[in-house]
Amino acid sequence: MNTVPKLFVAIDQNDINTAKKLIQKLTPKLCGIKVGKELFTACGPEIIEWIQDKGFKVFLDLKYHDIPSTVEKACFVASQMGVSIVNLHALGGKDMMLAAKEGIDKSNNNPYIIAVTLLTSMDSNALKGIGFTSSMNDQILNLAKSASQANLDGIVCSARDIRNIRDFLPENFLYVTPGIRLYNKDKDDQKRVSTPLEAIKMGSDVIVIGRSITEAEHPEAVLNQIYDEIT
Ligand code: C5P
Repeated sequence: MNTVPKLFVAIDQNDINTAKKLIQKLTPKLCGIKVGKELFTACGPEIIEWIQDKGFKVFLDLKYHDIPSTVEKACFVASQMGVSIVNLHALGGKDMMLAAKEGIDKSNNNPYIIAVTLLTSMDSNALKGIGFTSSMNDQILNLAKSASQANLDGIVCSARDIRNIRDFLPENFLYVTPGIRLYNKDKDDQKRVSTPLEAIKMGSDVIVIGRSITEAEHPEAVLNQIYDEIT
């Protein structure tokens, strides 16, 4: 299995030059780069190639959620691009996740394939709002178990979820946690947040940080500070 950095910086931008300028302030020794829907929709595979040429590992965060054969083929293509982490929504179901894994296995590369359980922007009210009646914890645990049964490598969850679920999941399961804030009070649209060090202490293997770094006056200084804190 490939090794991945403990920290991925989410470059949520829609302009290739702005994205490149931002990435050039960062260093592959300290972080990987997460390419999500905004950047990928705006810039496509070209930006992935550029980022990898600079020596960064890439987490392609497109959260696939579609019929199994579509997701299988998308995962194959994503894997062929050489990215280090690919993800999908566990809510797409076990068949979709099994198909995703098949897509990865057919490729020449071996990225981690992980499933989003519940978005860190969702809380129990949001869950009720979409008609889910089980508790948030049960919902997350069910989705995580189903990802593990589909032989995925891990999940995306809130660092706060890990302690409630890890006893029911494989020992080497990968926990990737967004919803990180330098100070717990600055949440933006995230609901279930933790600081970088809290997340690592709670069992996170990889933390994902976007705006706390990218909107800082000196992103490189904040990255250095976080790296020192968590290593
Ligand atoms: O700016 P911020 O640190 O909130 O960015 C978090 C990043 O992680 C965003 O790119 C978002 O799409 C992504 N993400 C998330 N929650 C998940 C999965 C991914 O916030 N469950």
